[in-house]
Amino acid sequence: MRSYKVAVYAGDGIGIEVVDETIKVLHKLEQASGGFKLELTDFNWGSRYWRETGKLTPDNYIDIIKDYEVILLGALGDPLHVPDHITLVPLIEMRQRFDQYVCLRPATLLPGVASPLANKKAGDIDIMVVRENSEGEYASLGGRFKIGQPDECALQTAMHTRKGVERILRYSFELARKRRNHLTLATKSNAQKFAMVMWDEILAEVAKEYPTVRADKFHIDALCMNFVRCPENYDVVVGSNLFGDILTDIGGAIVGSLGLAPSANINPERTRPSLFEPVHGSAPDIVGKGIANPIATFRAAAMMLDFLGEAEAAKCLDQVVLDNLAEGKVRTPDIGGKAKTADVTADIIARIERAC
Ligand code: NAD
Ligand code: IPM
Ligand code: MN
Repeated sequence: MRSYKVAVYAGDGIGIEVVDETIKVLHKLEQASGGFKLELTDFNWGSRYWRETGKLTPDNYIDIIKDYEVILLGALGDPLHVPDHITLVPLIEMRQRFDQYVCLRPATLLPGVASPLANKKAGDIDIMVVRENSEGEYASLGGRFKIGQPDECALQTAMHTRKGVERILRYSFELARKRRNHLTLATKSNAQKFAMVMWDEILAEVAKEYPTVRADKFHIDALCMNFVRCPENYDVVVGSNLFGDILTDIGGAIVGSLGLAPSANINPERTRPSLFEPVHGSAPDIVGKGIANPIATFRAAAMMLDFLGEAEAAKCLDQVVLDNLAEGKVRTPDIGGKAKTADVTADIIARIERAC
């Protein structure tokens, strides 16, 4: 029997709700397949752990999880009780320490789901955002000076390396070759004349190695507008850490809901764990109501299974999600339904029993 070590870091808010549902779905897939076993270890980290210990995680949490193959994460953030720049540290740190430099975030309009954009139907929006996930604006370099004084000063320095930019561009070109041969860089070289000009130059260099891929670039402001105005013009879109973050909330919205958008934080060399999560956060506005859409996390779990080599189970999970959405009977309020989170899970599990 094939077996995989999975660290489960459900985190906070609806992160806990959607991960609970995802684990039920994963167990059902194990049963249906009969060929693999997920060894799940649940880590109670985040604001729950903070209430007990005054810390978000044990000090050595990186050591604790570094030998897992993958991490399944819900969402971090408990903004009413702990400042976000504290609760979110482990997420950013895991991406960096485990060198998960590729963040894959599909924005695909699926059959049966309505886009808020007029006249868009399934197939019209099929974008893969590749977010640089290990450096850039998230490098955490800087400091504060004269805190609280009228002449207070804050420095927040982004760090973009040739190695980091080259590898994410190369990954994106490879991906574009497997899709529709079109790669777009999110840039801002009209204003950020050091970092973004370097991104533009490296794009032009790497593009020479991929003559079959059409490579273009848009300034991030125009690109955000175009995600709303003409998303059908894009295939693979690559951007720095912050640009990728912003684009993928827009990506979630235009394909119907952030509650459908998955994310894979990948260490392509597989030297350290990769991390799978929904794009969304802990959604304090709906926590405890039982209405969080679990589908983003189901789809992240499918990406995880695929990464682990369980392509058949991954495909089956993706397919039953598509079937659920296409039928449209059991869906949460964010996509126009009345169902509860648990109803969606029950529907997905019943479909796995029938189809996988
Ligand atoms: P959010 O993504 O949590 O929520 C934005 C909006 O989308 C809310 O109206 C929410 O109800 C809705 N939404 C999100 N996920 C949904 C789902 N599965 N089903 C239905 N509706 C859903 O963003 P926010 O409100 O800006 O942030 C809340 C907290 O989450 C903050 O602490 C923030 O820092 C954190 N956050 C964490 C992550 C992460 O862990 N990866 C990502 C984003 C935000
Ligand atoms: C995301 C989130 C995180 C990010 C935050 C919560 C640190 O918004 O995963 O998209 O900016 O990467
Ligand atoms: Mn985000």
